Amino acid sequence: MFHNSDRFHQSWEGNTLTSFEFPGEYYEIMRRDFRNLAAETDFLASLAPAGGRVLDLGCGTGTNLRELGARGYSCVGVDQSASFIGYARRAGGRNVEYVRERVEEFDCDDRFDLIYSMFMTLNYLPRAELRRVLERMRDLLLAGGHVVLEFGHLLNFVESYQQHTVAHHRGDGVLITRLARQSLNPHAANWRNEETLLVRETDGQVAMYDNFFDQAVLTGPEVRGLLADVGLAVTAEYGGFRKEQAPGHGRGPLVIVATAEGASAV
Ligand SMILES: C[S@@+](CC[C@H](N)C(=O)[O-])C[C@H]1O[C@@H](n2cnc3c(N)ncnc32)[C@H](O)[C@@H]1O
Repeated sequence: MFHNSDRFHQSWEGNTLTSFEFPGEYYEIMRRDFRNLAAETDFLASLAPAGGRVLDLGCGTGTNLRELGARGYSCVGVDQSASFIGYARRAGGRNVEYVRERVEEFDCDDRFDLIYSMFMTLNYLPRAELRRVLERMRDLLLAGGHVVLEFGHLLNFVESYQQHTVAHHRGDGVLITRLARQSLNPHAANWRNEETLLVRETDGQVAMYDNFFDQAVLTGPEVRGLLADVGLAVTAEYGGFRKEQAPGHGRGPLVIVATAEGASAV
């Protein structure tokens, strides 16, 4: 049995923790239970011109970029996880380049038609860095380009809070049991997740991985306010990647599309 808790204990410092240092193939299996990849791909493709340049901030294992690369987009993905970037590079795909870096430290000379941050990745960034990250997104946009943010907002956190959860995920001959513990620091509006993944592999071996991360509990008004401050105008809001109506209240994803002020609407 492999256990990666040594790294866990070494890294358990500071106020913003993120690991995601477990094999990317297990993330891919779990991701399928939460996400509709076809809908995500159609949504993103509808916002970029054919063959356009795309930047994925917090790209994980590169799931979205492999699909967009196959459709002819020219893609760059950034993620802090060495395991996930390693998996993404090995998984290959056309027209995709990966950078292992923290989003708040990333910069480049390229410009993009579409810049997105999906599946709550915005919530993982230090709250104090958000404005600068959004400014950088604005600066990296080509004229008429779009920013897409899908983030967890206050009610997602409130309604899904469970101190302990156990969930099973199956795929590719593997069974993953995820034991999650959640805690909330209300004064910092910070949500801490500590997970243990028990993985029964195809050969019957069991491996155990720790995964832990902090998420800033963001609100819709907070993100809209920051976008306005940096000159990104909201052009659409949805409740999902099939362009469902944004939830007026209650649980559900919030997807915001924005463009540099002065550019045309979606
Ligand atoms: C829930 S996963 C989502 C990944 C991907 N967007 C997807 O849809 O599958 C969150 C990702 O954010 C990455 N992440 C968290 N904080 C980050 C940071 N400060 N800089 C870069 N990546 C970060 C993690 O490594 C992880 O891959």
